[in-house]
Amino acid sequence: MAETILLEQQGRIAILTINRPDKLNALNIATRREVAEALDELRDDKEIRVVILTGAGDKAFVAGADINEFAGRTAVEQRAVMKAKSIFTAAEDFPKPLIAMINGFCLGGGCELALSCDLRIASDRARFGQPEINLGIIPGGGGTQRLTRLIGEGKAMQLILTGEIVDAQEAYRLRLVNEVYPHAELREKTLELANKIAEKSPVALAMAKAAVKSAARTTLREGLDAEIDLFALCFSSEDKEEGVRAFLEKRKPDFKGR
Ligand code: COA
Repeated sequence: MAETILLEQQGRIAILTINRPDKLNALNIATRREVAEALDELRDDKEIRVVILTGAGDKAFVAGADINEFAGRTAVEQRAVMKAKSIFTAAEDFPKPLIAMINGFCLGGGCELALSCDLRIASDRARFGQPEINLGIIPGGGGTQRLTRLIGEGKAMQLILTGEIVDAQEAYRLRLVNEVYPHAELREKTLELANKIAEKSPVALAMAKAAVKSAARTTLREGLDAEIDLFALCFSSEDKEEGVRAFLEKRKPDFKGR
């Protein structure tokens, strides 16, 4: 029985909530394990087409790694924690669209978790930053790599070296988030987006994700080759036949994910 997360289903959408609001949803060992396990389950759940990841309460998405766990921890112990199944890799490798619904503080490991998702939708109250430098450490959940790829070296370097916290509008300007909505509309707008994506072919969504992700992992030539293979793979699906037939018959496609 999970103690630090909540899981709810809304049709084809799953909402995975990190549930430690009194600690601003800071990631401790149990939370990391439970989120990774939940993603494993959701990956195999045929009913679920899109997952939304968020934080409980009104104040935080995730305010970072649980700093209490850092005190007194040795380098060897810390390495073992970080080498265990990574929540960031689990999110990045998750084959279905994963949307971070950012309802408040999105700091340190929280920002890195959002960066590991496919889309980031923020409340106008959200705040972003990589404040690890203030603790005498650096981002260790992919922040130096994913933030740099997403917003460019200059701005990533500035956020990481200063530890400064930026508001949602600035995060939007930096292209750190896809959209910003008034706090009260965040859930509705995020669900609207999730439902729009959930109507598409799950097969094509997985191929599209893999193709886009390969842009950051490979050379252009390798990425273009991967795209052709993934495009061609879509031709093995019933969904491709349904999509093409529906267009020709001037009706809405009904994708089954096969
Ligand atoms: N790890 C552990 N506990 C955390 C935490 C974290 N990353 N972030 C917040 N909390 C806890 C606080 O210790 C506090 O617990 P307490 O009530 O038992 O004392 C509770 O969450 C509420 O936080 P508080 O600091 O009182 O809220 P605030 O509104 O005054 O400040 C922040 C909000 C986000 C600015 C502040 O909590 C903060 O700086 N957190 C750390 C952010 C960080 O450095 N993250 C990167 C970690 S590598």
